[in-house]
Amino acid sequence: MDIVARDLRSHAVEPSPNGIALRASFDALGGNTTLATMLTEFGAERRGHRHLDEATTFIVSGHGFTEVRPDEDGPATRISWSAGDVFAIPANAWHRHEGTSAEPARQLTFKTTPLMTRLFGSRAFVRDNPFRFDDRYADSDTWRRAVRVADWGEATAGQALAGQATAGQALAGDPPPALEDRPDLGDGVATALIPLAGQRMLEPWLVDLRPSARIASRRNRAEEVCLVLEGSGRTTLFDVDGGDLAIDWSAGDLVARPAGVAHASAAGAAGARLLVIRNVFIDLALGPLRAALPAG
Ligand SMILES: [Fe+2]
Repeated sequence: MDIVARDLRSHAVEPSPNGIALRASFDALGGNTTLATMLTEFGAERRGHRHLDEATTFIVSGHGFTEVRPDEDGPATRISWSAGDVFAIPANAWHRHEGTSAEPARQLTFKTTPLMTRLFGSRAFVRDNPFRFDDRYADSDTWRRAVRVADWGEATAGQALAGQATAGQALAGDPPPALEDRPDLGDGVATALIPLAGQRMLEPWLVDLRPSARIASRRNRAEEVCLVLEGSGRTTLFDVDGGDLAIDWSAGDLVARPAGVAHASAAGAAGARLLVIRNVFIDLALGPLRAALPAG
């Protein structure tokens, strides 16, 4: 089982079956079966699409925008994005991505597709469903603008932050919510949940690890993937195939700690910042039963 994919900024991508984009799939990273993760490199999508599954996107490189409509014919809204931004589309809203940078843009997208398809047994239900989540679409404060979680070197970002962006330049995303110390997770650990597009299953967490911070051993009930935004560190998985497995990671790496496996992490001497995407559908499904179980 692969646990880590190295530097997504330079990771190899292959032509997709429809020939529109180059991509690399990390759907099975860490043994995940409910959280799909796809790296896509593209210029402009000719056609938009809709899907019922939740999707959250991190911009690995380049800049551009995503055109969003409540359905095929509704008025358009543009989400501008550039490297280091994260954003989400309201579930089942029509959308189309377009890169405007000289080099093709790279997006890393996290989706609940495998779970949805397995639950309902119909790709058409997920991809061709007329239902509109009007409440999520109306809550535009949580999706109309991207959230900047890292500075991945986009040349226009500094100008945009200073309000100097001109037409055609990427606008940097909004700042993320304030970090809160999390002594329950470990010394030197702070987190912020980023609310995006009314999503219920996908939770994006910004995790800040101060130099040499440690996250105590824990088991995840939720499947998750962890993108290293800054810094470096090590995750140790306990009792895997009869032994412990240590994985060193640094900025640009994608790590998936298997659900149900005890693991601990430590930041390097310079600290680290992580974007952790969790699919918390199990806790949603458990409802009140959740109180009888240990935290996951
Ligand atoms: Fe999509």
